[in-house]
Amino acid sequence: MSGPKPFYITTPIYYVNDKPHIGHAYTTLACDVLARFKRLDGYDVRFLTGTDEHGQKVEKSAQAKGIDPQTFTDGVSANFRDLARVLNVSNDDFIRTTEDRHKMACQALWDRLVERGEIYLDAYRGWYAVRDEAFYGEDELTRGPDGTLTAPSGAPVEWMEEPSYFFRLSKWAAPLLQYYEDNRGFIAPESRRNEVISFVKGGLKDLSISRASFSWGVPVPGDNAHVMYVWLDALTNYITALGFPNQDGDYTTYWPADLHMVGKDILRFHTVYWPAFLMAAGLEPPKRVFAHGWWTNEGQKISKSLGNVIDPVDLIETFGLDQVRYFLLREVPFGNDGDFSQRAMINRMNGELANDLGNLSQRVLSMITKNCGGVAPTPGPFTEEDTALLDAAKGLLDSLRSTMDRQAFHEGLEGIWIVIRAANAYVDHQAPWALRKTDPDRMATVLYVLAEVIRRVALLMQPVTPDAAGRMLEQVGQGEDARSFAALAPEIMLQPGLPLPKPSGVFPRYIAEEGE
Ligand code: ME8
Ligand code: MG
Repeated sequence: MSGPKPFYITTPIYYVNDKPHIGHAYTTLACDVLARFKRLDGYDVRFLTGTDEHGQKVEKSAQAKGIDPQTFTDGVSANFRDLARVLNVSNDDFIRTTEDRHKMACQALWDRLVERGEIYLDAYRGWYAVRDEAFYGEDELTRGPDGTLTAPSGAPVEWMEEPSYFFRLSKWAAPLLQYYEDNRGFIAPESRRNEVISFVKGGLKDLSISRASFSWGVPVPGDNAHVMYVWLDALTNYITALGFPNQDGDYTTYWPADLHMVGKDILRFHTVYWPAFLMAAGLEPPKRVFAHGWWTNEGQKISKSLGNVIDPVDLIETFGLDQVRYFLLREVPFGNDGDFSQRAMINRMNGELANDLGNLSQRVLSMITKNCGGVAPTPGPFTEEDTALLDAAKGLLDSLRSTMDRQAFHEGLEGIWIVIRAANAYVDHQAPWALRKTDPDRMATVLYVLAEVIRRVALLMQPVTPDAAGRMLEQVGQGEDARSFAALAPEIMLQPGLPLPKPSGVFPRYIAEEGE
């Protein structure tokens, strides 16, 4: 007998040098939507997020605040954990790289790499960007007008010269290219896949994987003068959380990960270094890495120095949580860069949530309360129009499964909206308020069809707007036990006669305050 299919999804673990902002919220929310979708669809989901707490960047931030790194990271990590609650994120675990379980996993992975001859001691001489925690070749740098050298990311670099352990990355170029070839879906979107392939085709140099000039990291086994390179440490989190080095239990169930969701800034680490470390250690690479795009604020790059960092908590206070969740996943084709603007946020919130969906549900359900004795109406025979609308709603689950597996959130939501718009056109055309006098039986059928469409739409909206969808489901009489996607089977329909509570609005309009 086989149980439910496992689905393991992860966010990047965020650096604790800074407060969480909209970019972190975005990645985590995208994962939350997928995790919720898969759970509702019957999968055994493991959803991991957490914080990346070692390295020079975090150490420097702690020093700048005049506190020891552990106390500093305890504080900032808690902010990320709190944000996940505020965003109503359904993660199953929250990992911190300063935990013992993680140090153990890193050291075990290191030992395996040593045993297999994948690590050697040498010296690093080259450029390093603390902001990216990344090494750069001379040829990748550009010199600014003031003479300073910067990485392609814009981060300043510094010259580094110290003894270092190296990972034999160079010998993994061919196996990586083979892996990309054999697993077309490993890197998404497609344009990113091409970028990575040409980078690897350009040849890989061995990678420095330890640092000897500071100590805020996981000690290298057998050589306390070194701590591990923070990216080797960080990437390992994905297997730490499954109990590695123990390879029974969670590791067997959930590894390899179904999806590592990342921003495009850290694609190389996840699609080159990480699978190479794993292959070298004799472990399986993850199944898929999706790199989403970058958010700007009203057309400008988001940065502390510009003072335009968007605090997700402020956004939620202004517009509401489900509205923000919806906006972020609807506004921008997932994978592309996106711009946050008040105007766009309000348009989506008012036009799509309040008008299209909120009004539909409120109108239909109040007509039922007023005209059908507060219970789901009993339908008569269905006309062609009724069947067309019901079939469109019934077809949504299959199409959403495929859009979700491609992480095309915007497309999935657009698919739902096509049905919502069709339902609105149907209400206008059928005019149930007029049927009340002329043909009450037909009115009952029309309202039944609409209530059934609302039930289906609300079920499918749960991953994106969990709170509002839950309230909508209550209003169509669906208890907690009737809310998994099993309830979307084509033969399952709203039960006539089911008592429905008096509806109340679920998606309020945003009304600009005076002077805005
Ligand atoms: O890179 N738009 O952590 P980090 C969209 N610790 N997404 C954004 C964003 C923006 N403007 N800004 C940040 C690290 N992000 C490492 C990861 S994983 C083993 C280690 C999101 O705190 C996006 O997901 O710099 C990006 O990849 C991530 O935050 C970087 O977070
Ligand atoms: Mg970063």
